[in-house]
Amino acid sequence: MSVQNAELAVAPPGQDLESGHIGIRLLVENVRDYAILLLDLEGHIVTWNKGAELLTRYAPSEIIGRHFSIFYSPKDLAAGKPARELQTAEENGRYEDEGWRVRKDGSRFWANVIFTALRDDMGQLRGFGKVARDFTKRQRAEEQIRSLNEDLEQRVLCRTAELEVAAKELEAFSYSVSHDLRAPLRAIDGFSRILLKEHAGALPPEAREYLQDVRANTQRMGHLVDGLLAFSRLGRQPVNKQHVSPAGLVRQCLEDLHDQQAGRRVEILVGELADCWGDVALLKQVWMNLLSNALKYTARREVAVIEIGSHPGHSPGEQSYFVKDNGVGFDMRYTGKLFGVFQRLHRAEEYEGTGVGLAIVQRIIHRHGGRVWAEAQLDKGATFHFTLQSGGGAA
Ligand SMILES: Nc1ncnc2c1ncn2[C@@H]1O[C@H](COP(=O)(O)OP(=O)(O)OP(=O)(O)O)[C@@H](O)[C@H]1O
Ligand SMILES: [Mg+2]
Repeated sequence: MSVQNAELAVAPPGQDLESGHIGIRLLVENVRDYAILLLDLEGHIVTWNKGAELLTRYAPSEIIGRHFSIFYSPKDLAAGKPARELQTAEENGRYEDEGWRVRKDGSRFWANVIFTALRDDMGQLRGFGKVARDFTKRQRAEEQIRSLNEDLEQRVLCRTAELEVAAKELEAFSYSVSHDLRAPLRAIDGFSRILLKEHAGALPPEAREYLQDVRANTQRMGHLVDGLLAFSRLGRQPVNKQHVSPAGLVRQCLEDLHDQQAGRRVEILVGELADCWGDVALLKQVWMNLLSNALKYTARREVAVIEIGSHPGHSPGEQSYFVKDNGVGFDMRYTGKLFGVFQRLHRAEEYEGTGVGLAIVQRIIHRHGGRVWAEAQLDKGATFHFTLQSGGGAA
């Protein structure tokens, strides 16, 4: 039985808990969730409660008079941790710490510990109060979450690396396939041309027509191959970001697209275009594709109206740009397909094209960290939006 228990045992039964120290002593003695102990000036244990016994498994008779450093690991002892903690508590009035401590049987528990310097009315240091709580469960849960997160991060890194390798392989494959297809295509076209030119007289009219078809189709396939090459080249090209004025790019593109406007009534309204941060050559391809689409898909309008503008994006440092037209539009149900390679919503006989323009646009915008999307209504026109980093942004 400890000293305090002995005192408690001789306290007269029925004594008012609020009088004397009995109430406080009973309270401290019986608390089970906190280890509460008194240390003398050197750190020897003077009192011991139920919570301390449950936490460390030392009975009062085994621990009273021992130094509190008994709960520390050899590593903490070698680092002089117990003495440093008392010293800090003395200097600052209190000291709080969390860490692994050691039970009587050598097992570890994670403790939250608060030391309080105890001074008398004269300000003289008399000892230390130590209150500790067992946070092992919380600590283990946190450690588990941390290790699961690390594991997850590692797995994401591995998967991303695998995907990158697969994407690179696919890119290299489509590049070499499309590259290698060019020569035989040229040969087919060349021999068909020779047949038509030099042996036209020996061929019946039907055969000549077939040969014309062969040439038209090899040329079309040539365009598809060129589109695929242009698309796969994008993945290899580095993105050199700099300050870009889209107003200048739009002006150049519209000049380059002059032929598409010839003989037509086209109203082009260029609104304010905020500067952005990106690769000039790549962004020119974005504008070229969107503006040429706007011109192409308004070809059957009496007056084509194309609006171009920008406004701040949803997140800070982001600009949103748009190209709006009053052309044929499309059914929004197919909007997810538009940006895929060779995906077309209109027949080549109506509107010619290979279906890589928007795939290129999307790839360039994604490589800039932006988003691209479309809104449209069948026969009412389409609007293409994309976001980029604002002009003042860092690389
Ligand atoms: N402004 C637009 N209005 C209506 N439909 C559009 C518009 N822009 C694109 N589309 C639809 O999206 C499809 C894909 O566009 P994309 O630019 O990729 O290909 P394309 O214009 O057909 O060919 P190209 O490779 O020559 O650009 C088009 O075939 C068309 O159906
Ligand atoms: Mg296009």
